[in-house]
Amino acid sequence: MASTAHSSLTPTFSQKERAQTLDPNRSIGVFDSGIGGLTVVRALMERLPFENIAYFGDTARVPYGVKSVETISHFTTQIAEFLLEKDVKLLIIACNTMAAVAAGVVRDLSPVPVLDVIDAGAAAAKDGKRIGVIGTPTTINSNAYARAIHDHAPDSRIYSQACALFVPLVEEGWLEHEVTRLTAREYLRPLLAEKIDTMVLGCTHYPLLKPLLHEVSGPGVKLVDSAEAMAEQAAAVLNEKGLANPGPHPPRYDFYVTDVPLRFQTIGERFLGRTLTNVHVVKM
Ligand code: DGL
Repeated sequence: MASTAHSSLTPTFSQKERAQTLDPNRSIGVFDSGIGGLTVVRALMERLPFENIAYFGDTARVPYGVKSVETISHFTTQIAEFLLEKDVKLLIIACNTMAAVAAGVVRDLSPVPVLDVIDAGAAAAKDGKRIGVIGTPTTINSNAYARAIHDHAPDSRIYSQACALFVPLVEEGWLEHEVTRLTAREYLRPLLAEKIDTMVLGCTHYPLLKPLLHEVSGPGVKLVDSAEAMAEQAAAVLNEKGLANPGPHPPRYDFYVTDVPLRFQTIGERFLGRTLTNVHVVKM
């Protein structure tokens, strides 16, 4: 399950989480199947410039978007446990596919608050009446976005579309390429035929396609970037819990990956919009 019913934009937390006294200097743990979650890291760096971040990208086992629920749950548990051992104060599931099928698993095992991109994206889409959702096949098949959006906007109509080719096109760097434009027209046609007013970018990679998707969907469709929505939600939760790092020390960023980091570093810098250092290889 991606989400439970919420009455406000910030999620509520369990007794177990409230009982914890967490140090604001501890890092935020962010994780993803690979490189894509760096779009969430980028949004967090911009919104919360004093926060330390420990990022985990499972580059040896990516992509998750075409894997089974069982496999994704198993990998997700390993990664969450790894970050909890690093003493993070907050866990952010940056991968929409993991959030779609394994958010419950993470919430059950975590003693610190857990946020996920699907809940954040769904909350940010709540003013839409006819909402399109695009994501990987596993995310779309799980129906997690539709359920989460209905929690926030029960009267909305939701139309979903899996866009399997967008992840490789983004990783290829074809952000404005004609092939990507044609692919987007094809994928978005059924959603646009339903006269959607809002479209949720339900995959880590899609924020990089925002200009092209905006061009294809037209000015009448509001794009919801779940990475930006996640950063807003994280800021609200840290403030509410007195967990925000007040600074002014420069933050520390650590990146843990499961495969040799060359590709992560080259493509990752495009996602992050800055140089990537402190990359550590982890064997799982
Ligand atoms: N991170 C995944 C997501 O947001 C996309 C890449 C993958 O399929 O693993 O759905």
